[in-house]
Amino acid sequence: MKKIEATIRTSKFEEVQEALHAIGVDFFTYWEVKGVGKQKGFETVYRGTHYDMGSISRRMIEVVVNDNMVEAVTEAILKSARTGEIGDGKIFISNIEKAIRIRSGEAGEKAI
Ligand SMILES: Nc1ncnc2c1ncn2[C@@H]1O[C@H](COP(=O)(O)OP(=O)(O)OP(=O)(O)O)[C@@H](O)[C@H]1O
Ligand SMILES: [Mg+2]
Repeated sequence: MKKIEATIRTSKFEEVQEALHAIGVDFFTYWEVKGVGKQKGFETVYRGTHYDMGSISRRMIEVVVNDNMVEAVTEAILKSARTGEIGDGKIFISNIEKAIRIRSGEAGEKAI
């Protein structure tokens, strides 16, 4: 099992949700986040446009999936969250040791 964490633009949230839904992933956790990227939260100029990096509204999406879904989930987020401009966000993937469904006590892949 893997955990996929993605910081995305809030403006892209619905698109990301639809892209995940299209591959059968209807479960995830999300919350509002603040952060800075390479531009350090200051106003920056890119291709002649000014961006206030500190003011981009962001959400964090966290989804745990079985290993065979990692690529599909990653691709779905990449495609749906991208604008091509700086500040599009980032995806982190890490191992999950165990998952347990509280209702039934099912553990491992069955709990996803
Ligand atoms: N290495 C990191 N560790 C933790 N969070 C990060 C990291 N890089 C980016 N983030 C989070 O992702 C958000 C968006 O980052 P951002 O897209 O600006 O990354 P970037 O590396 O500056 O890429 P770009 O050049 O495309 O802007 C940040 O505000 C921060 O919350
Ligand atoms: Mg950045």
